[in-house]
Amino acid sequence: MAIPTIVWSQNHIRIIDQRKLPLQLKFVTCKNVSQLWRAIRTLAVRGAPALGAAAAFGVLLGLKQIKTKERKSFDAQIKKLCHYIGSSRPTAVNLFNALDRMQCILRDHPDASVLKARKLLFQEAMAIFEEDRWVCRQMGIHGAKLIKNGSRILTICNAGSLATVDFGTALGVMYSAKKAGKKFKVFACETRPLLQGARLTAWELTREKVDTTLVCDSMAASLMAQGQIDIIFAGADRIASNGDTANKIGTYSLAVLAHYHRIPFYIVAPEMTFDKNIQSGKQIVIEQRDGKEITFLAGKRIAPLGVKTYNPSFDVTPHRLITGIVTEKGIIRPSFKKNIYKHFIGHDR
Ligand code: MRU
Repeated sequence: MAIPTIVWSQNHIRIIDQRKLPLQLKFVTCKNVSQLWRAIRTLAVRGAPALGAAAAFGVLLGLKQIKTKERKSFDAQIKKLCHYIGSSRPTAVNLFNALDRMQCILRDHPDASVLKARKLLFQEAMAIFEEDRWVCRQMGIHGAKLIKNGSRILTICNAGSLATVDFGTALGVMYSAKKAGKKFKVFACETRPLLQGARLTAWELTREKVDTTLVCDSMAASLMAQGQIDIIFAGADRIASNGDTANKIGTYSLAVLAHYHRIPFYIVAPEMTFDKNIQSGKQIVIEQRDGKEITFLAGKRIAPLGVKTYNPSFDVTPHRLITGIVTEKGIIRPSFKKNIYKHFIGHDR
């Protein structure tokens, strides 16, 4: 199986450097929080669940700089640290949910000494890491039931082992189906501008010996029109309480196309990717990235100097276009507003 995307090892974080894939498999070592911040911002580590683990480990890195023995000051410094880590990328809610969990541990143990608080933070970070490994495998089991022998699957961006600790959400479903002996083929959208589909998804699927065909994003419509796609799986960066889902730019186009061609469109994401504080996708902050990601390709300028750019990293797929959301607890079907609550809480509101 996959090499872990991110690990905590001897007081530092080791991550696969996704900027260098697929040409080189190299690792980055983050020894302090600003190195981690940069690794997140420049997408050395990326994908919502991997960002959750990175944020939790980032707090552990930050602990190295905190010298106080006094709890009030310790908690204040952790809060500042979490704020800094959270400023790296705005859309993937796993990052913020992980930071909230780290701060919650402190709130739940107000009387613990600083030494004890440090231990609790370490345990919580490790729990976030281990949980991701478990929830991805659970989503794999539930989602694999949707894949039939001979299914032709379309996916976008990279929602695989590289976007999580080690297994994947949308691609995890495919790994589980493969393990169950199903034969299927995958079309991977290249995912402009940064080509996570071409560089990362194609890399990991071919390594796992999954039958994979790489297509340019603009080819998805034609594939669907020809009846060559049976089902679509995508990951998520943030899911609102009504099911509206932010994911890599281009996901919304696939969902609209899927609706027109009557192709089931599934999101695969764990509870950590749900933002229960927001009612709809309108409240999701979409990261805007440097226009150079569009005007340059593989380090070479491809557009004229002076041209304007528009480079949102994500779009929001309205819940009406989603057939189901696969989570670690099963598959949520419409009506999402009612069923998301029931799915996680166990009863109607
Ligand atoms: O900008 P990225 O590469 O971090 O975007 C990642 C995605 O959009 C993924 O599809 C999403 O995080 C789900 S990952 C399991």
